[in-house]
Order: sequence, then structure tokens, then C-alpha cells
Amino acid sequence: MKDAAATATPALASPQAYADAVATAVRAATAYYSDGSTPLGDDEYDALVRAIEAYEREHPDAVLPESPTGKVAGGAAVGDVPHSAPMLSLDNVFSAVELDSWATGLERRLGRPVAAWCVEPKLDGLAVAARYRAGRLTRLLTRGDGLAGEDITHAAGTVLGLPERLAEPLDVELRGEVLLTHEQFEQANAARTAHGATPFAHPRSGAAGTLRAKDRPYRVELTFFAYDAHGLPGLDHVELLDRLAALGANTAASTQAAPRRCATLAEAEQRIEEIAALRAALPFGIDGVVVKADAVADQEEAGSGSRAPRWAVARKLQAQHKVTRLLGVEWNVGRTGIIAPRAVLEPVVIDGVTVTYATLHNPADIERRGLMIGDQVFVYRAGDVIPRVEAPLVEERTGAEQPIAFPEACPRCGDAIDTSEQRWRCVRGRGCQAVASVIYAAGRDQLDIEGLGGTRAVQLVETGLVADLADLFTLTREQLLTLERMGETSADNLLAAIETARARPLNRVFCALGIRGTGRTMSRRIAAHFGSMAAIRAADEAALAGVDGIGAEKAAVIVAELAEVAGLLDRLAEQGVGTEVTEPAVVVAIDDEEAGPSGPLAGQSVVVTGSMTGALAELSRNAMNELIERAGGKASTSVSKRTALLVAGEKAGSKRAKAEELGVPVTTPEEFAALVADFLA
Ligand code: IVH
Repeated sequence: MKDAAATATPALASPQAYADAVATAVRAATAYYSDGSTPLGDDEYDALVRAIEAYEREHPDAVLPESPTGKVAGGAAVGDVPHSAPMLSLDNVFSAVELDSWATGLERRLGRPVAAWCVEPKLDGLAVAARYRAGRLTRLLTRGDGLAGEDITHAAGTVLGLPERLAEPLDVELRGEVLLTHEQFEQANAARTAHGATPFAHPRSGAAGTLRAKDRPYRVELTFFAYDAHGLPGLDHVELLDRLAALGANTAASTQAAPRRCATLAEAEQRIEEIAALRAALPFGIDGVVVKADAVADQEEAGSGSRAPRWAVARKLQAQHKVTRLLGVEWNVGRTGIIAPRAVLEPVVIDGVTVTYATLHNPADIERRGLMIGDQVFVYRAGDVIPRVEAPLVEERTGAEQPIAFPEACPRCGDAIDTSEQRWRCVRGRGCQAVASVIYAAGRDQLDIEGLGGTRAVQLVETGLVADLADLFTLTREQLLTLERMGETSADNLLAAIETARARPLNRVFCALGIRGTGRTMSRRIAAHFGSMAAIRAADEAALAGVDGIGAEKAAVIVAELAEVAGLLDRLAEQGVGTEVTEPAVVVAIDDEEAGPSGPLAGQSVVVTGSMTGALAELSRNAMNELIERAGGKASTSVSKRTALLVAGEKAGSKRAKAEELGVPVTTPEEFAALVADFLA
């Protein structure tokens, strides 16, 4: 796991630099705790506070009263309803080493080892206190300054997981986090933009704004996760969470990142890594992992400071949202003629990766988000997700921002744009990109037509001999000889290569169509699942969704695109291309393991990295993937806990390191070749 707070803040060198840093931090904390917005990313805020703390350690007499250090909510939040007991914050650690010394400090204070740790996600939302009398929810409060909070009882009905009635008639106060899940965030922004409001920049600002809002013409649902309670004494932490769930409250136990009791700190560190690795797949945002002493006796003895308990700490993860500047918008035409805008950003490092471009989806999306060139924008990136621009920081505008110009003609061919759908498209559709489509179809991993590279494809399209892939198969020698720089030998070679391509297997022909969302791997799965082009064409969304890795959304896209290329498919069939018929793959019956994939790699996920040697030296990555699948395995590109085997060739880099870290078996190309020898073509 990458350590958080990699954002370097230089040490504060003068009283003025210190005072400026305090002012910036207070401004950011005020924005953060009022509507959840922030002119600073989370990592930058944490780094700034650490620099302020360092300065104050050196100059204890010069600490400014408004300094955010040592205060709940950075001293920014207010409220007028006193809390029954202070609502504390958490101290942060930013690396395994810092966690270790924190734990050592706690054990030294206790004079004994901590009985057990509990490791749970740090949910990225707002802390609330929910008061119940005789099991009925009577009041919902924000954390405020930790001593008094704001009354937001009016919002309780929109918070899922926060029951109006508990399963028992108890007087108790539940504490936890309210957030917008990713899905709720999308729904909230759809509802807002439909009502002419600007979208939320960040799920947390969405949660903060929604909890405070009254009389909105639309409803936005939120989700509550309980992590603490007052009024249920004597329970160790994991027991307390179980009890809260039994009373009807939602807890993180309902998620993949469930709180776990760990006997040792080493075990706790392993669980931290697991939760960090799960982060991108979780349906809600987390900004860290919380480590708590589980035993109530340990907690009571450790006690709390004015800001945070001594028995719990947050191991922060790098922020997935960052603020940067929108420098421009590029309009690119895809293979299918879709004209897609792409944001050009001032480079920003998000979770260890430098992001320079981000998706903007479509023109309507740009308008909904109200973006302008020069805006400071929130950018989101998680795991392998394509970075996306969330929203502008409207309050940071200087007046110098410029509107985004939308293209009036196709930026590729200059023809008209069909703007009737949200996704704009060149009126020539796939024809706009005929050259790119033909080059793609002829590529090594598709039809593998030798001699049909860029220059030839341009010639064939520009002379009108080829408008799409089916036209390749009706080309005659005479036609080819009319082309410049095409001698008899070249023409014969090209025709022979096209003839060979006519018999390519179904997966490659399907892949050559360039249907959105179906690369090489997906094309192999689809071909194996249906067995013939006719069966693929006859498949409806439900049938397609039966293919591993195809969800409802992708199934709908595939069905629509297949309908669009129906004419092309008819002509390919007439030419005998893609007419191969095989037995469709057996659908694995539950409880019938025999029916599953067979072969030495049956059902195993295999990743290939580095350059192959020996018997595998000539195989492209796609050919390796085909081999893995012939041998019953599943080819994957990234190493995870679920990877069964990594084939590591020469110059294998980070994937090998990751496999070793996770204990995934690593094999050489030669060993692997021996394992799958029967399946080598
Ligand atoms: S425990 C005495 N557990 O993080 C208990 N807090 O940055 C103190 N948070 O104020 C809090 N997930 O709003 C706790 N699993 C979790 C949490 C969590 C998120 C929030 C909470 C807290 C803030 C500190």
C-alpha cells in the first residue's frame, strides 16, 4: 500500500509562513465542515496541518489561538445542541511505521499488550449522533465542534440504515458516519442537475449539503454506518458493532470491508492492506482504515484526550479526489464515430498516479456540471477507474474562466454531427473512422492480415475500394493493381493474407468488429459462450449478461451495436467470414463442479508479465491469453489475492513484486509451457 500524505509540504520557515498556513487551514476546515467543499484536497490539508504541528512543536510559545491543531473539526464547526458526551475525532498515522509506534505507545501506557485490535474502514462522510428514547429515534445531530452539534433531525427519514425504531425499546445514542454511496452520489447529481442545480463535487460535500438542506424539491438518499454507541456499556468493540446491527442499524459488517478482530498488530496490518486493496471495489468512499483497541477494559484504561481517543487511530489512505485546473477540452472521434470530450488537466498525482486527462462523458454532462476552462475542478480516480472530472469549485472562480467551445462539425472528417442523443456522433458513424476500423480489424490480434497497415488502409478507403471490413473480402486482383505502389507480388500477397483471414476463428472475427466494450478477452468469452455468430446475433441482453464479465449495461451496449452493424455482419456471412460453429461453452451448473472448465488451469486466474521465452517466445500477449483459456484458465491483467499463478518472463516488474507480496505462486515461461504443453497450438 502506498503511504498517504505523500504530498510534500515544505517546513514552515517563518512566523509569517506559519500564520499563512494557519489561515489557509482554517479557511479549508470552515468550508469542509460547513458544506463539505474544500479549496484543498484532503492530502494537502493533512500535510498542511502536519507542517503547522511541526512548527508549533518548535515554537510552543508562538501557537496562534485559531490554529486548527488539537481541535475537533479543526475548530471550524459550530452547533447549538450539546452532546451527551464529546464527539471525538481520530488521530492519524500515515504509514505502517507510524502505526507501529502509535501501538507501542499505547501498550506502554497500558503497561501490557493490547488484548486484541479491531480493524475497520474509515468511512468518508460526516459524523452524526442519533438519539433514541425507548427505541424511537428522537434526534439527529451533526458533530459540530465535538461538544455541541446542529440539529438535523429533519433529514433522518432520508438516511438508510438509520432505523426510526430499534429492535428493542432502549435509551441509547448511536454514533456513526452518514455518507453518499457511489450510487447515491450519482442519483443525487442526476436529481440536482435535473432541477438546474450544480452537481456535488464530492460525495462528502453531497452528504453535508443534503443533511442540512430543507425544502428541496427532490429527495436524496444517504446511508448511515454505526461505529459507536453511548448507553450500551461493557461491550468490546466488535461485540458492540454486532449488537448495533442486531438493533437494526447498518454497520460496516454488511460490507466486504467488514470490521475484523485481530489478535496481533501484524494481523491488523494485514487486514489494513486487505481493506486498502478492496477500496476501489467498495460501493462507497473510504479515506482510511481505523485501528481500535477492541477490549472495553483497554479502551477505558487508555482514555481519551480532548480531541481524540487514545485507543483508536486512523491509518489514512491517499485521497481519491484531488483539486486541479481544467486547462482545456479535446474532442476525439472514436471508432464508432462517437465524438467524446476529454478534459486536459494540470497534472495532478492521485493515489500515486499522475493524471493529465479525465473523461467528461458527453457534451450534456459538461453542461450539467457547469464547467469552464480555467476552473479549479475536483477530479476522481480510484483503482483502474478512468479519472473523471466531478465538478468545478465555483467559489474559487476568478472571472478569467472561459466557456467550453463545443464542435460544430465532426473534428475528424468535418461532416455534420448528430446531436440527437447525449453522446454526439459524426453522421458518418463508423464510416467516419473507416481507416481506423480497417486497421484495427486487420491487426495482429484480430484478423491478422499481413500487409494491411496504415498506408494501405488509407489508400483502400480513399480510393473508395473499401468502406468497411466486409469490403476487404471482395477485393479483386485487378482492383488492387490500380493502387499506387502496388505491384503484382504485393497484390498477390495481400490477397493471400485476406484469404487466410477469411477462416479466422469466431472470437477474432467478433473482436475485429470493434464493438464497444469487447476487446480480445471479452470477444473470446462471447465466442466460447455462444459458439456461432448467428447465436451471438440472436442473443438478447439477458443472454449476453450470462457471459462472465458482462453486466446489464454492457449487454445493452453490445445488443445496440450489433444491431447497428447488422448489414456488415450479413455481408461478412455472405463472404464466409465468421461462420465457424462450435459447441457453446457449458454453462456451469451450481453444485456440479464437473461441468466447469477443464484443463490444467481449470477455473484459475492467471496473469502474464514480462517477455516470454522458450516455447512461448513468439506468442503475443493475446496468444498467451488464448492459451490460458484453452487450458481452462482465466486470463487477467492485474495481480490480486485471487490470482492463482503469475507467469513472469524477463524484465517482470511490479506485478512480480506484488505477487510475491501477496504470496501468489510465480512461474517461469518454461515451467508454464510444460504445464500447458497439450494446449500449445
Ligand atoms: S471512531 C471515539 N470509526 O472519522 C470514536 N470514526 O477523522 C471516534 N470515521 O470523527 C471515532 N469511520 O467521523 C470511528 N470506523 C470509524 C470511522 C470513523 C469514519 C470518522 C468519524 C471521526 C473521523 C475522524
